[in-house]
Amino acid sequence: MLIRPRRNRKNKVIRKLVEENQVSVSDLIFPLFLINGDRKKEEVPSMPGIFRQSTDLLLEEIESCSRLGIKTFCLFPAVEEKYKDKYAIYSYSHDNFYLKTIEKIKAEIPDVNVMTDVAMDPYSSDGHDGIVENGEIINDPTLEVLAKMAVAQARAGADIIGPSDMMDGRIRYIREALDKEGFSNTSILSYTAKYASSFYGPFRDALDSAPKSGDKKTYQMNPANVKEAILEAKLDQEEGADMLMVKPALPYLDVIRTLKEISNLPVAAYNVSGEYAMIKAAAEKGWLDGPSSMAECLLSIKRAGAKIILTYFAKEYAELIQ
Ligand code: PBG
Repeated sequence: MLIRPRRNRKNKVIRKLVEENQVSVSDLIFPLFLINGDRKKEEVPSMPGIFRQSTDLLLEEIESCSRLGIKTFCLFPAVEEKYKDKYAIYSYSHDNFYLKTIEKIKAEIPDVNVMTDVAMDPYSSDGHDGIVENGEIINDPTLEVLAKMAVAQARAGADIIGPSDMMDGRIRYIREALDKEGFSNTSILSYTAKYASSFYGPFRDALDSAPKSGDKKTYQMNPANVKEAILEAKLDQEEGADMLMVKPALPYLDVIRTLKEISNLPVAAYNVSGEYAMIKAAAEKGWLDGPSSMAECLLSIKRAGAKIILTYFAKEYAELIQ
């Protein structure tokens, strides 16, 4: 035999020398759940190890993650029912705890980047990402709300705006609104190909944000489609997105690869709540080794072509590789 591929696997040093892909802590964005109040911390039942926390504790968590090398955090608010309405007005009202938290993070830990979520669902009494009229999610009037939300977040100091709503035309609408208000340096990481997925269940528990009626299939993508992801990517690019995202990650590795091939923009992937819950549940039962399964899944997302990974495993992974 002239060719023996096993020679490149014969010891740890050689294996590392020929290793094609790595997940670095600097590739990771850590999603965090925020609640209103003081010294409040509640574990999300379907996401062991992940908490909804008030601003004070969240700041401590960000400090501790920052020491591990995690520098970008994506914030999601769990909003009390009394602040929700049809038009998600609370999402851009200046006394809102989400915006105040962004200000605080940027003032107290200025070297970290804050990514936001732009969508109506955490603030909507209908639990949808857009305005509901006669059972329909209406696109164009929703853009107005999204733009107000994005501008308010940029004003609070957000570094990266993350539209997760899947309305048509929202990237251009938000980009123009940001530029008009003087926020031309605020980045947009677009949820380009966000699928109508079953893997968001634990997240909706964390935020109490499940739709009150119907589903999200008229705006989130059909899991069967990949050409449509190319169309969405082209539009986002033309409309001024800085980064593209595929969501969820593991069931859509082919979509990640496709976007990486067709676009020159950095591709991100969202390793969502259900993907986290699956590994945690299997590890709790002793059916999988948690840490190594986590590392293998993150690596697969990287290998598929994502430069950036949003993952609830961020802190655990950073601790593991330290
Ligand atoms: C909603 C939003 C969702 C997630 C992020 N933003 C859920 C949804 O579309 O219902 C899911 C993230 C996760 O499951 O981890 N705008």
